[in-house]
Amino acid sequence: MQVHISLKKVVDDSYFITIDTLPKLHFDTKVAVVTNQTVSKLHLDYLLGKISAKELHVIELKDGEEFKNQESIDAILDSLFEHRFNRKSMLIAFGGGVIGDMTGYAASIYQRGIDFIQIPTTLLSQVDASVGGKTGMNNRYGKNLVGAFHQPRAVYIDPYFLTTLPSREFGAGVAEIVKMAVTFNKDFFEFLELADLKNPQVLQEAIKQAVQTKADVVSQDEKEQGIRAALNYGHTFGHVIENETAYKEFLHGEAVAIGMVMANEVALKMNLMTHEEAHRVKMLLQKYNLPITYVIEDVKKFYEAFFLDKKSSDAAITFILPLGIGDVVISDKVDMGTIMCVLNKFGKL
Ligand code: NAD
Ligand code: GLY
Repeated sequence: MQVHISLKKVVDDSYFITIDTLPKLHFDTKVAVVTNQTVSKLHLDYLLGKISAKELHVIELKDGEEFKNQESIDAILDSLFEHRFNRKSMLIAFGGGVIGDMTGYAASIYQRGIDFIQIPTTLLSQVDASVGGKTGMNNRYGKNLVGAFHQPRAVYIDPYFLTTLPSREFGAGVAEIVKMAVTFNKDFFEFLELADLKNPQVLQEAIKQAVQTKADVVSQDEKEQGIRAALNYGHTFGHVIENETAYKEFLHGEAVAIGMVMANEVALKMNLMTHEEAHRVKMLLQKYNLPITYVIEDVKKFYEAFFLDKKSSDAAITFILPLGIGDVVISDKVDMGTIMCVLNKFGKL
């Protein structure tokens, strides 16, 4: 005996990403701004001056990737229950990618899902983390292993917030911008080669182009069944580097920068890009003081660590390899000899 449950869905989760001075925002509902201590001290008054709502609450979390965990999610949910938020209430993520991912995740599970808005305040979160609806948290098994796809209702990117960002955090965001350009947009790459991102107008244009590039990819493949995986360029190597250095030596974007250089070495071996193209990527990363090399202490251990990456199946490692500049191929068929050859190049002498 069978009962059929018909659940064909037509869902429109489209939204606008505004890159400009933050406008005034009015809500007829209860609103909670989720932020952390650092961002709160610097920018909360500015934000609160722009928001009116039926009731407005602030949930302040501790600052750091180490607090991207269940305890912080529980703190958000508890506050929502205490203030009797309902399914029409709204969350606002106000901070970097850590706050954005956790707020989105809390919104996805509170009373089976409520709306949220992203107001990202780091360059990395403005060009990458706030766009595309990936939300989540870390647990003892690894980073971002628990989460949901839950699209924000809107994203407001105000470059003004970046005026207080430490320069290393700025560089980490540039790495993700370079990632978008190398994988999808040759003209954008050439723009970046000539650009001075310290100039506010140029920076705003670069943010727009990076966001447009990511938006185009997410529109084609929201749930990462195919092309969206290309946004993990540099991450296969980068995650291992972050792990080996216990997340202390490099910011995520810095590890991704080294990872892109390593991925380019694989692409070079497979004749997918030229030495001149790989050199141009290195030069662009160096222009923003990003690291481009790393000494692998134990090549075999580094290789084995690829298999701990959740994006690789048991049998194969997925590599995102540039095809020149502006195009990309996703491959789980790179032979072990090629990979070992590249790892040995970075190995301790
Ligand atoms: P972060 O959120 O930890 O922010 C970095 C630091 O900058 C923090 O100390 C923060 O308090 C501080 N900060 C934030 N705004 C500031 C400002 N305007 N001025 C001064 N300091 C400020 O890190 P991040 O680099 O923004 O994001 C990294 C996180 O994003 C990771 O957890 C990663 O997994 C996630 N991520 C998610 C996606 C996605 O698609 N959802 C994509 C990329 C990264
Ligand atoms: N940061 C990669 C993605 O959003 O898919």
